[in-house]
Amino acid sequence: MKIRNIVLIGFMGTGKTSVGKRLAKQLNWNFIDTDVAIEEISGMSVPEIFRKHGETRFRSEEKALIKRLIEREGYVISTGGGTPLRAENWEILTQIGLIISLYAPIDTILERIGGSNDRPLLKADRDENERLLLSRQPIYNKADLIINTTEISIDEVVDEILYNIEDRTKDGTSD
Ligand code: S3P
Repeated sequence: MKIRNIVLIGFMGTGKTSVGKRLAKQLNWNFIDTDVAIEEISGMSVPEIFRKHGETRFRSEEKALIKRLIEREGYVISTGGGTPLRAENWEILTQIGLIISLYAPIDTILERIGGSNDRPLLKADRDENERLLLSRQPIYNKADLIINTTEISIDEVVDEILYNIEDRTKDGTSD
C-alpha cells in the first residue's frame, strides 16, 4: 500500500527534526517542520509567539497549518511536541499519513536539549518535565510505529523507519 506522507510525533528532544530531515533526504521527499513553518507564516519565533500572544494563539496557528497539509503528498512532517495532543489534531494527522512516534526518557531528553531556551514549555525542574512527558506518552503511543531513540543514532532511527515502511508497502498493512 502507498504511504502518502510520514508524520513524526513525540516529546521535545526526541529527534523529530533531525530524523525527519535525513529521512526526507533518503526518500527523496520534501521536509516540513511545523514549528519552522509557523515561524515563517507568523514572522515570529515560537518563544516570541508564546510570549506576545500566548500558547492559545500558537495552538491555533499549529492547527491551521496541519489542516493545510492534508492535501500534500511525499512529505516527511516533523510536528511540535504538543501537536498530536488535541483529538481534532490527531484526526487530521491520521489523514495526512503514517504516524511515527519517537521516544526517549526524560533524562536523555534533558541531556540533549536541557540547555536550550527556545522551548517555552521546557521547565527548569526535571520532575515537572517528566510529568509532562508521562502525561503525553499515551497519545504518542497511539502512533502506527514507535521507535525508542535512546541508545541509537539518528541514522539508525532512519534505517529502522525505512525498513518498516518498506515492509508496509510490501504487505499492504498501511493506508
Ligand atoms: C512544544 C514543542 C515544541 C514547540 C512548542 C511547544 C510542546 O516543538 O512546538 O514549543 O508543546 O511540546 P518541539 O517538539 O519540536 O521542540
